[in-house]
Amino acid sequence: MGELRGTHVPVLLERCLELLAPALGRGGRTVHVDATLGLAGHAEAVLQAHPETVLVGLDRDTEALAHARVRLARFADRVHLEHAVYDELPEVLDRLGYPSVDGVLFDLGVSSLQLDAPDRGFAYAQDAPLDMRMDQTRGVTAEEVVNTYPHPDLARVLRVYGEEKFAGRIASAIIRERERGRITSSARLAELVRESIPAPARRTGGHPAKRTFQALRIEVNRELAALETALPAALDRLAVGGRLVVLSYHSLEDRLTKQALADRVRSTGPIDLPVELPGSEPTFRLLSRGAELPGEVEVTANPRAASVRLRAAERIDPQARQRGRTDRERYRRRVKAMHQPGTGSTTESGPDPRRAPGDTTDEEGEGT
Ligand SMILES: C[S@@+](CC[C@H](N)C(=O)[O-])C[C@H]1O[C@@H](n2cnc3c(N)ncnc32)[C@H](O)[C@@H]1O
Repeated sequence: MGELRGTHVPVLLERCLELLAPALGRGGRTVHVDATLGLAGHAEAVLQAHPETVLVGLDRDTEALAHARVRLARFADRVHLEHAVYDELPEVLDRLGYPSVDGVLFDLGVSSLQLDAPDRGFAYAQDAPLDMRMDQTRGVTAEEVVNTYPHPDLARVLRVYGEEKFAGRIASAIIRERERGRITSSARLAELVRESIPAPARRTGGHPAKRTFQALRIEVNRELAALETALPAALDRLAVGGRLVVLSYHSLEDRLTKQALADRVRSTGPIDLPVELPGSEPTFRLLSRGAELPGEVEVTANPRAASVRLRAAERIDPQARQRGRTDRERYRRRVKAMHQPGTGSTTESGPDPRRAPGDTTDEEGEGT
């Protein structure tokens, strides 16, 4: 196995560490889940920064796990590496005996190892067998998708997962080509896509095959279905004060993340009630304002960071929040009463009524 450290630069590493620190560094043993371990760049930095933290690292790619194992060898006594799809997280945690965790990181998409491997078929720029499975021990390959899906299914995959405007034309070209012979190589597929896209459109939006390859990869690995299940499962396992950070690389992943967080940061009670009904309070607060983007310096140094979108949230204690609200309300009423005529109070002598103690805006991301 070759040395890979130099070829993979963890994306938004400092920001991820900063966001996870309050949850992982709060004293005693804490548990961090890296749901997409890859080459363990983020995981290694977390273990270094938090000597008390236990890592549960998941990856569906056995090759990535083997590299991660070597890289994390010096932390072996507090590392569990698991060959699993991230929607299997609850079963993994149950088996390891961790009912709740303190940090979870999802760094979605493919790793440099997968993209750069000449034989795995993820890259349109290299000729390889059309595989694209992150887990090469199971599942259907891109070759099977391309050579067996009927036209409507193929076009849907390209349109939905690749946001490809010319999905229908590309699907038709694939069907015509496979009638002549099986499509087996990534270079042939990339060429077919290029020929299907009208010349003026080829000049914009990067390599013409980029969207088709992304779409096939998502389909082959059932990426969105796994994410849709995994995000709520991970949020459910976070202890109060525990934090989740998600790095997405295309709009479909980011939309699922945004939705999963939105479901937890708003009240589920009727909007016209002045008080929260028990059990309807928000259970998380956002730590990021919208989606955070990488800085120019990072993108220049690591072009793979260009499309990243970061979102993060922290589990809160709804009861404590409710108590905080009631305290603030009582305080406001007291201050208001002091300013009623006849009470003898003035603004100079009283505290600032605009700032109640602990009255921070916690609905929208406030950073760390
Ligand atoms: C972008 S890489 C992670 C890189 C890692 N953060 C690092 O610093 O080296 C994404 C990894 O997630 C894995 N992965 C993608 N989807 C997965 C899933 N549904 N379940 C488990 N692992 C997955 C891929 O195999 C890949 O190794």
